[in-house]
Amino acid sequence: IKKVTTHTLLRMKASGENISMITAYDFSFARLFDAAGIDVVLVGDSASNVMAGHETTVPITLEQMIYHAQCVVRGISRALVAVDMPFGSYQSNSDIALASAIRIMKESGAHTIKLEGGEEVVDSIRRIVSAGIPVMGHLGLTPQSIYKFGTYAVRAKEELEAEKLKRDAQLLQEAGCYAIVLEKIPASLAKEVSESLSIPTIGIGAGSHCNGQVLVMHDMLGINNEFKPRFLRQYLNLQEQVTGAVKQYIGDIKSGSFPSESESY
Ligand code: KIV
Ligand code: NA
Repeated sequence: IKKVTTHTLLRMKASGENISMITAYDFSFARLFDAAGIDVVLVGDSASNVMAGHETTVPITLEQMIYHAQCVVRGISRALVAVDMPFGSYQSNSDIALASAIRIMKESGAHTIKLEGGEEVVDSIRRIVSAGIPVMGHLGLTPQSIYKFGTYAVRAKEELEAEKLKRDAQLLQEAGCYAIVLEKIPASLAKEVSESLSIPTIGIGAGSHCNGQVLVMHDMLGINNEFKPRFLRQYLNLQEQVTGAVKQYIGDIKSGSFPSESESY
């Protein structure tokens, strides 16, 4: 199989082929997504929410992200794997940022890292890229800053924040990022940014003009039906299916119909 690299993604943007990306946090799902032909698997710090049950992405640690990344990498043979740098592992200074990025690469076997922010983290991005580690940026609704934003509402609707986002996108490209996630911003702004950059944008709640799309696996598979933002297209209702299956299983145990004779030795 031909492996997806950061260069593949650049070529896809140039040729107009949209990039497909999904999150994964473990071996079994990563293997399914890879076999289905996904281009990029993101070990998102959304693991903090969907795997660990935290309310925000703030508490997850570098060690925990590395564990999820190790599990995912074992399931991948074709896709590009990006790993989120968790909150606290890169914001203090570029020495700490570089050390954290190196740990993720060495200990997990992942191919690239992702981190949130623009101008504030651009020095760290430069140093990480200089060390040979490809970096994916992340602008717009950056969930590690939820306590600054106060809400998960759409970002950059106002001129000032939109202008900063456009500047940040240019800075990230100049610093050497190979792609940028645009989360929950107006489609018109995402279109403008995507057209102004040579590197691909990957959108979530950022309209159809990004160069790719990403969703959290638990959201698109309908594992948690309480989370239904407008941008989410739900491809399965696993909550319903899993609940039904487990109820049947419980019923079969209670009634004594499981196991049958043919299921016994
Ligand atoms: O952590 C995550 O799942 C993400 C995607 C939503 C882009 O950062
Ligand atoms: Na994330």
